[in-house]
Amino acid sequence: MAATLAEPITVTPQPSGFGAQVTGLDLSRPLDAATLGQVKDAWARHAVLAFPGQPLSLEALEAFTLQIGPFGVDPFIKPMPGHPNVLELRREPDETSKNFGAGWHSDWSFQKEPPAATLLRSEVTPPVGGDTLFADCARAYDALSDGMKALLAPLQAVHSATRAYGTQGAYAKETQARTMQIIVSTEAEKTLTHPLVRTHPITGRKALFVSPTYTVGIEGLTYQESHAILGFLYRHMTQEQFIYRHSWSQGMLLMWDNRCTVHFAEGGYDGHLRVMHRTTVAGDVPV
Ligand code: SIN
Repeated sequence: MAATLAEPITVTPQPSGFGAQVTGLDLSRPLDAATLGQVKDAWARHAVLAFPGQPLSLEALEAFTLQIGPFGVDPFIKPMPGHPNVLELRREPDETSKNFGAGWHSDWSFQKEPPAATLLRSEVTPPVGGDTLFADCARAYDALSDGMKALLAPLQAVHSATRAYGTQGAYAKETQARTMQIIVSTEAEKTLTHPLVRTHPITGRKALFVSPTYTVGIEGLTYQESHAILGFLYRHMTQEQFIYRHSWSQGMLLMWDNRCTVHFAEGGYDGHLRVMHRTTVAGDVPV
């Protein structure tokens, strides 16, 4: 299939101060190098890119993902049949279990090399609810005092999937039926550390890299000490001034940067079907 011609894409920043909408592209065909460069530049600048009107097949979603970078590894959720790198985030109208992703997190931050990007495409959007909220962890870091930045600089945060996917975690205790096939495992109970403040490999900006879903403590600090610092940071980074609220339309692709944002999938659509297709792009060891 022929590559699309290099045309300037239109990048419209969201009023929230981060995130942007990108139009003037057909993502069902391979992008030429110049256009792909424009997309990557816009992504580095805005962190969350929305591409409306992209009715992509699963194969096209996979192909565009691979233009951004190699697939990441998605643990604990059964992928789509025949598409080992695509997750279907599906919630049926009669489901009553908590919607997937309903807690602030950066995707798979408990991995040694957490994914740089997540791509999420809306297949079926409910008529109400189902927004995805993003917090800008670089702007949140910038807004801290020099004293707090100095305090955080040497700290290593401890990450684990245990609260969600561990054998005593939220999914293990769930009693309501769920369409998505979650794999609860002792693997999820492992921990590893990442710098609490990480530096973005492309922009060089520092960002808070912690979340209430996957950060279980701070190395060398007591539970109470970690809890106090992390609690302050979660309240700080999820203030209105750092949030972009993304409202979906059918056939929209969203690509976000897990290295400098956290996100939260809002519910509010009980009684309605919501279907999303998700891929990840591999990332680096956070530094
Ligand atoms: C997620 O990847 O955390 C889910 C986001 C969403 O479904 O809006």
